[in-house]
Amino acid sequence: MNHPEFFSTLWSDFCAIAPAAANINAQLTADGERVLNDHVAFRTFNKGPISLEKLDPVVRSLGYERFDDYRFEEKKLRAWAYVHPTDADAPKIFVSELLTEEFSPELQAVVDELVAQIPEDFVKGPEVFWAGLPWERVSYDTYLKLREESEYAAWLAALGLRANHFTIFLNEMSDKLSTVEAMLAYVEKHGFEVNSSGGRVKGGEDVHLAQGSTLADKMAVEFSDGPQVVPTCYYEFARRFPKPDGELYQGFVASSADKIFESTNAADR
Ligand code: NI
Repeated sequence: MNHPEFFSTLWSDFCAIAPAAANINAQLTADGERVLNDHVAFRTFNKGPISLEKLDPVVRSLGYERFDDYRFEEKKLRAWAYVHPTDADAPKIFVSELLTEEFSPELQAVVDELVAQIPEDFVKGPEVFWAGLPWERVSYDTYLKLREESEYAAWLAALGLRANHFTIFLNEMSDKLSTVEAMLAYVEKHGFEVNSSGGRVKGGEDVHLAQGSTLADKMAVEFSDGPQVVPTCYYEFARRFPKPDGELYQGFVASSADKIFESTNAADR
């Protein structure tokens, strides 16, 4: 599979669970905008066949190279970022994993039970990134217990492997939509909610990256004891600024991402 095929299948899977992103994208296209993606982001557990290290060769098989790694102290995650070395329009790929050992024995026991169900040879190629649940559905009660400790763990347990968010690269938009605040105003005008955790705009020119996002869609998801409405996926917006050397910054900003992760929180709804 080449990377354009990868992103087009990934986007289709994503739209099914993030209808707001599909609607915003369609609205932008109808308004004559050319929508380029800055990055896509994935979540995983640091255990078993789906750990970051096990997914790494799959990302490389798409022609990508790893260029940076990150640590999120508050959310207890680490992440690797990848870039396509020859296709400048290709989105960066951002894969994070939950550092499960840093959580309670109860959370660890649930995660162990989930990853124990995954066959050793589960990761065969890029389709792993829209595989969905590689384990039996958890109960809604288990989901809520996980969520008390880690929204990330709960999201992953309930939704499995899939894109967590796509991110529009604002530098390539027309002038009127090329800032994060302008884009957030646009999506609100079209009836979508914005994540204001840590302020509407995270980061800025001083850290060479400004980001914002919608709040995740809420959809009915099947649990072992029936469907429940939970937050799914969101759309992010990124504006990049040049570094002192004049090159556009390509990295991520941990303190901003910490707040962006909260786009899938349910607490303040
Ligand atoms: Ni992101």
